[in-house]
Amino acid sequence: MWYKMGLKIAIGGKGGVGKTTICAVWAQLFAEDGFDVLAIDADPNTSLASAFGVRSEQSPEPLIKMKQLIAERTGTATDTVGAYFRLNPKVSDLPQKHWVEVNGAGPQTQNDAFGNPVKLLVLGAITQAGEGCACPEGAFLKALLTHTIVGRQEVVLVDLAAGVEFMGRASVQGIDALVVVVEPGGRSIETANNVAKMARELGIRGVGAIANKITETTQTDVIKSQLKDTVLLGSLRYSRAVQEADLEHKPVFCACAELVDALRDAKGRLKDLSSEGVVSS
Ligand SMILES: Nc1ncnc2c1ncn2[C@@H]1O[C@H](COP(=O)(O)OP(=O)(O)OP(=O)(O)O)[C@@H](O)[C@H]1O
Ligand SMILES: [Mg+2]
Repeated sequence: MWYKMGLKIAIGGKGGVGKTTICAVWAQLFAEDGFDVLAIDADPNTSLASAFGVRSEQSPEPLIKMKQLIAERTGTATDTVGAYFRLNPKVSDLPQKHWVEVNGAGPQTQNDAFGNPVKLLVLGAITQAGEGCACPEGAFLKALLTHTIVGRQEVVLVDLAAGVEFMGRASVQGIDALVVVVEPGGRSIETANNVAKMARELGIRGVGAIANKITETTQTDVIKSQLKDTVLLGSLRYSRAVQEADLEHKPVFCACAELVDALRDAKGRLKDLSSEGVVSS
């Protein structure tokens, strides 16, 4: 397989389109293929754990909220406000200390039917500032993302924050493919095109899209015709079962076989993203 080791995928798009849902299902599917998978929640409104059925009271604390840890690593613990801080803090030991193991059936790790557990790392993001935030939190987050994306061998899936404001060089450096999720709606398509454009400007070569919450097949055609230079990897139907799983805090992977099958196909099409981000066949 072309993505044998170390494939790095980021998932973006407008708010509520299905980024987290797709990230969780793909993470599980890569794990079932035998890959070591690291799923990273890089959204300020962290919710990737809940898509794996982890209840909020059991969700790991986002690393960006660990003030003491950030202060220690950036060297601001003993300094006064406004003092210098380390721009490249040591973070390489942190993923394994803070990830939790999950699988398609939920937070329990011992379930052979689901393959290797997925390692879930909840980073969070800085809400008030985008790229280039000159603060210890910004340096810490940048170092962690760079380490997890560039410095590790797992298949890495990054659940990005909604919209384009949060998408800076720091969050996508080293990403092989950016997948924008789009639902039937002009604003969602517009955001998808903006995210895709920015991804290309940031040097990401593979940019694809997934249509989600489709209720009529014609909607997929409209989306396809309005996406600019972006390969449509798949189209997922609106599923009440998916919505109910979210309401009931159940893992999405077990909620809807049709959605999982469609995402398996879409995942297979990732290889169609050539260096220009257009279908090669
Ligand atoms: N195919 C689908 N059918 C029905 N409901 C869906 C589908 N995909 C996602 N949803 C539901 O839509 C809502 C938003 O999905 P999700 O949280 O994955 O989106 P998101 O893009 O990550 O949102 P946010 O921008 O808030 O992070 C959830 O309630 C989810 O269960
Ligand atoms: Mg989300």
